[in-house]
Amino acid sequence: MADVEIFKHDILIVGTGLAGLSAAVEAAQRGKDVATVSITQAYRSHSSAAQGGINAALANVAEDDSAERHGFDTTKGSDYLADQKAVLAMTEQAIPRILELDKLGIPFSRTEDGKIAQRPFGGAGYPRTCYSTDKTGAVIMMGLYEQCLYHEVPMYEDRIVLSIGEKENKIKGVVAINLITGKLEIFQASAVIFAVGGAGRVFKDTTNSWHNSGFGFVLPYFKGVPLKDMEFVQFHPTGLATNAVLLSEAARGEGGYLRNKDGERFMKNYAADKMELAPRDIVARSIQTEINEGRGCGPDGDYVELDLTHLPAEQILSRLPQVRELAIRFAGTDLIEEPAPIRPSTHYTMGGISVNDKTESEMTGLYAAGECSCISVHGANRLGGNSLLECCVFGKISGVSTSEFVEANKVDDDALEVLQKEADEVEANIQNLFNGEGSEDGFKLMAEMQKVLSKNLGVFRNKEGITKAQETIKDLKERYKKIKVKYTGRIYNWELARLYMLGGQLHLAEVIVEGALKREEFRGSHCRTDFMKRNDKKFMKHTMAHYDVKNDTCKISYSKVDLSIWEPEERKY
Ligand code: FUM
Repeated sequence: MADVEIFKHDILIVGTGLAGLSAAVEAAQRGKDVATVSITQAYRSHSSAAQGGINAALANVAEDDSAERHGFDTTKGSDYLADQKAVLAMTEQAIPRILELDKLGIPFSRTEDGKIAQRPFGGAGYPRTCYSTDKTGAVIMMGLYEQCLYHEVPMYEDRIVLSIGEKENKIKGVVAINLITGKLEIFQASAVIFAVGGAGRVFKDTTNSWHNSGFGFVLPYFKGVPLKDMEFVQFHPTGLATNAVLLSEAARGEGGYLRNKDGERFMKNYAADKMELAPRDIVARSIQTEINEGRGCGPDGDYVELDLTHLPAEQILSRLPQVRELAIRFAGTDLIEEPAPIRPSTHYTMGGISVNDKTESEMTGLYAAGECSCISVHGANRLGGNSLLECCVFGKISGVSTSEFVEANKVDDDALEVLQKEADEVEANIQNLFNGEGSEDGFKLMAEMQKVLSKNLGVFRNKEGITKAQETIKDLKERYKKIKVKYTGRIYNWELARLYMLGGQLHLAEVIVEGALKREEFRGSHCRTDFMKRNDKKFMKHTMAHYDVKNDTCKISYSKVDLSIWEPEERKY
């Protein structure tokens, strides 16, 4: 039997980004026994890298903005794949949620008359993105983290959750590895919220931190919970060309231009009305088209330029300090004086663990919130500024839902037995990795997975490329069985952690590929160059990927989209 430490809480939250912390604060305020478990120190989660802002129709800058208009922009931006009642619930909740965060002391930037400042963002009809210079995610996280400290929420850090314990479709808790000791730990809980962030690291060039492996997506999937709409992957238009790090959309919100090698503001050829503030899928495609058609900059023509030199230096210094610093540090360019090289970079996973608008999954007691979840409020393309919002609104809702759930459902008597068995399986997997054949190098397989996805499932895709990726992932899954973890020490064994997670990442890659192959249309971020039209008749539906245990692969089915508020129309900007 695996040697494990055992913990027990009513509510366990996996992940401490904005969704996880929002849930923790809500449950703690309701007096619940809630704890978090996270791969990193709680205050360092990837939400801290979210820069530009958070949307809410406060109407502080444009008086006629409303939650309804915010909902419409979000739905149109989603290419009508978002579930409309859920969207409206989010945009309505946005207003009280921002005011609540303001009351908590989050230092939002202000208008001259002292209201929360709002800047324009892509695809929005009004300036509705609230911000704190260009460090919005980080400051909200700090505020919520302080609340968790105040409420003395236990935070188990440096842990990676490796498995879920479940019986008869009811969650019993999770098994994690404590990186500090290398030991396995059992967390019994009656409600578990997955809030593990995105999956950018299954791709090569990404704005995401190394911790956004996507492994957390497949744990519920392996136990029967479907993943929804995973083929919809967002490419942020302005990843720094040198290392893919995010240069916030705030730069364009503040008036930044995009220029090709001829100095032309090329967005006029793609979205004459919205220009640089068209939705991200459109801007990313426009940049990639400029590059593909030979109008890119630099010796290899493989980037375009983000130009802020026409803006007053004071505006850049006061509202975009981080964007400027990142460009100086990683590209050696000071945006006050010269443009920075940018191109699309994998940024956000629109799909995720399928949940309803209360954040409940199909497994009793299992919830998901934030980027790893799919309700769906982003459909085929998310608008900038709606990610922090989703985390803050649905993170809080998951805190409410689980608090109500645990009032009637205590930790099951058989939880420990189920989880001990699960821990034994995890330990057996670890031993298999230590004692593997070793004819394959796990890190090379990881690089191959990332490369094949970036090359064939990027901004543009087609059957030939996706099929190539399908074959490669199938092959990598076989080769994964022959890898070996060379370092067998247990303390901070990142080789073990990364390669353990790679097994799950390959399954996630498979889900992305299978969904993309079957969706023979062009919708939002999913631009099939062999099917250049949206096909509502055939594909106005969510892709549902189920794990097929017997064949160790994924099975695709479809579910209905809620179109009850706005009639789908052609997207024009
Ligand atoms: O560009 C940005 O600041 C990112 C914002 C977002 O993904 O919502």
